[in-house]
Order: sequence, then C-alpha cells, then structure tokens
Amino acid sequence: MSSLSNGTSKPLDRSNLIPFSSRLREGRALAQDVWSIFNVANLPADCINLGQGYMNFSPPKWITEAATEALNTVAPNHYSHPRGRIRLRDALKTFYEPLFGRSLDVESEILVTSGANEGQYSVFTAFLEQGDEVIMFEPFFDQYLPSVTFNGGKPVYVPLHPPAAHIENPTSDDWTINIDEIRSAITSRTKMIIVNTPHNPIGKVFTRKELEAIAAIAEEFNLLVMSDEVYDCLVFDNKEHVRIATLPGMWDRTVTVGSAGKAFAATGWRIGWLIAPKYIIQPTLAATTRIVFCSNSPLQEAAAAGLEQANDRNFFEIQRAEYAERRAILVDAFDKLGMKYTLPEGSYFILLDISDVDFPEDYPFPESVLGRGRDFRACWFIAMEVGISSIPVSEFYCEEHANIGEAYARFAFCKDTDTLKAAADRFQGLKKFLKH
Ligand SMILES: Cc1ncc(COP(=O)(O)O)c(C=O)c1O
Repeated sequence: MSSLSNGTSKPLDRSNLIPFSSRLREGRALAQDVWSIFNVANLPADCINLGQGYMNFSPPKWITEAATEALNTVAPNHYSHPRGRIRLRDALKTFYEPLFGRSLDVESEILVTSGANEGQYSVFTAFLEQGDEVIMFEPFFDQYLPSVTFNGGKPVYVPLHPPAAHIENPTSDDWTINIDEIRSAITSRTKMIIVNTPHNPIGKVFTRKELEAIAAIAEEFNLLVMSDEVYDCLVFDNKEHVRIATLPGMWDRTVTVGSAGKAFAATGWRIGWLIAPKYIIQPTLAATTRIVFCSNSPLQEAAAAGLEQANDRNFFEIQRAEYAERRAILVDAFDKLGMKYTLPEGSYFILLDISDVDFPEDYPFPESVLGRGRDFRACWFIAMEVGISSIPVSEFYCEEHANIGEAYARFAFCKDTDTLKAAADRFQGLKKFLKH
C-alpha cells in the first residue's frame, strides 16, 4: 500500500480546502430542502405528484408557437435590454393599466425579470441594508427566506392564524391576521413587508379591509411593500383580488410582482415582472442588470404574445374555470374521506388537515424526514401507502413556529383532470389509516 502525502494510508480530506461563504449558513440555504426530499426521484415511480407546484401540461399552443417564431427570428436569440423586451413591456402596460387604474410608463415603471424569484431577489439587493428587517406572514413561500438573508436582511415573522377548531368547513378566509401583531413586530430596523395574495400555500385572497390595515401600517412606519401577486389570475368564487398598490397612497411604496410561469403554465420559462414607481424600479434595475443582465429573450416574446391575446381569447377566464374544476376534484375526494381541509379561494394549492392520519412510528422512514416535523413523516407515509406526493407545511414556517404547520399537507392541483381523478380514487385508500 503506498503512503500518501500526509504520511498515512488515509487520503487527505480536501473538501474544506476552499471555505464557502458563511452567508450560506443563513436562510436554510444548506438544509436539505423539502423539494428534494419529496422529489419524484425519491418516491415510488407510479406516485402521483401533487407536491411541487408545477403543471403536468404545456402552455397553450398559440403561446408556444410564438416562442418558436421568436427562436426563428434573429433579434430575440440575443441579449435583451435589461429592462426587458419592449414588446413584453408594452404588453404588460396594456394588460395591467386597467387593473392598476393608472397609466404605466414602459421605460421606468415596468421591469422584466428572470421569474418572480429573481425580481424579488433584486428588490432585496436594491433596498436592504445589513440588518434591515423584513416582515413576512407565516406560512411563507420558502424562497423569501434565503433571498432576504443573502442580501443582509433579517426575516421577522407574523402569523396567519389557522381557522378556529370549531369551524367545520374552513376556507382560506378563515386564516386571519392580527394587525396588532404586525404593529408589535415593527422596530426601528423594519424596512419592508411582504404581502402574498393569493397566498401560497394557504390560497388566501387578502380582503380589502386586511390590505387597508396593512397599508395604514406601511404608511405609518414608512415601509416598502412587496406585493407578491404571482397567482393573480387564479382567484375563485368571484372573490375580489385587491392590489394593495391601488389603495390610496400605496402606489408610491409598493412593488407588485408577477409571473408568466403561473399565468401561462410555463414555470420553467423563468419570466416574471415588477410594476412599481420609477424610484423603486430604477435601483432594482441596477441590481438585476448586475445579477442576470437580462432575462430569457425568446420566451419574453412568447409571454408578450400571451398577454396581447389573453383578453380577446378569454384565456384567464377559461383557465380560472378549469382550475376551479381541478380544485373541485380534490375537494370532493376529501369530503368523501371526511377529512378537514382549507378551501382555497386563490392559487392552486389546497391544505389538508393530516392530524388524523395514523401511521406507525416505526415505519421505515428515510433519514431525511426523521427529525423533521410530524407532517414530513405523514407526507412520506401518504406517498408510500397511498401513492400521492404532497409537501409538508411546516417547511413554510420558521423553526420556532413549525409545529403550527405540522397539522397540514399541501396538495397542488395544477394537474390535468385525469391525474386529479386518479388521485381522488387513491385518496380513498387513506380511509383505513384515519384515527376516527
Ligand atoms: C408566492 C410565490 N411567489 C413567487 C414564486 C416564484 O415565481 P417564479 O417561478 O416566477 O420565479 C412562487 C413560485 O412558486 C410563489 O409561489
């Protein structure tokens, strides 16, 4: 046996030769994320995937045709302006002006980004100083956390309270905020508040009254409001989608976030946008230009085609009805099972109360779910025994409050009806594992 340079037969551990940045220790960036644990690759091959929120269908053909056309044209194969391609900015202007009730300047008030995620990241880069605090409602879209901490910010959590136990058929409206709790979370370092409506994972569509109360606080403490409205096209039951930027005085301090991924069933395209006053867009443009320079050019053209034709084709209305039908399939399945769930009024997620799912503690769970919340084990058990994957909701909470999320599993209904009907049949197999 040959001796190695350390004079022993043991190879030198060189894995720490180049230390990585300590910022990765923040914002759970190194923790195994829930998406990789509940990844199709780790689950039985025939498991129905209602976990991660992406569609199992393509964008409409008239939109993918626009993508093909863009790929066959010279200019959209190259760098776009960092603000975004003018065709898309024009389409965003035309589409959103009536919804915001104001004119939008394509040069200074609209910014195309590489998905909503990168747009949000760029806002944090542009506005956060080291130690600035960002208020977010729990449960929260998990990406906010590292995006804030990578940019030196400190997340501060305010709860969305789960429906009271006596409510028999809760809807997402029964998840409530307490304005006094927001007020007491504010310190001299509070810079921003993130509002996500319709909400992931609850499906809550914030009411005008709730948004007015948040707006009053933002005015009182001079906060920047990030309004994450990526599910704005998926609001059900005639519920009103209120844009906080349209409330009195709020345009001046709000950046509204949108996503072509959610609007056009194209989550892999990575096209998103921000709408805000010039003095919010300009610093964010400076950040995004140095982060990605510009976004995917051909798919900006396709997203533009989508927005240009959506109203004439009644696209969002038809899509909303299709999603309502998809939601109904899961709701019926849960009703048949007699399980409690939160009826979502927006987005494409539904929270199932899994408190009654009874599984043996000595079930052969993998290491990755042991030591996590009960919901991780319940979701794993449901995937293995019933053949449907979901996402444990404690992942959307900070460690301190994870126990609140442990009562729920999130199922995504952005799937075709055949898949959802097959899932509905399988769900009945859960009956024999229920406590009551
Ligand atoms: C609430 C919320 N915001 C932002 C995003 C990110 O959107 P995009 O895929 O456009 O980056 C998601 C995606 O799941 C989301 O649920």
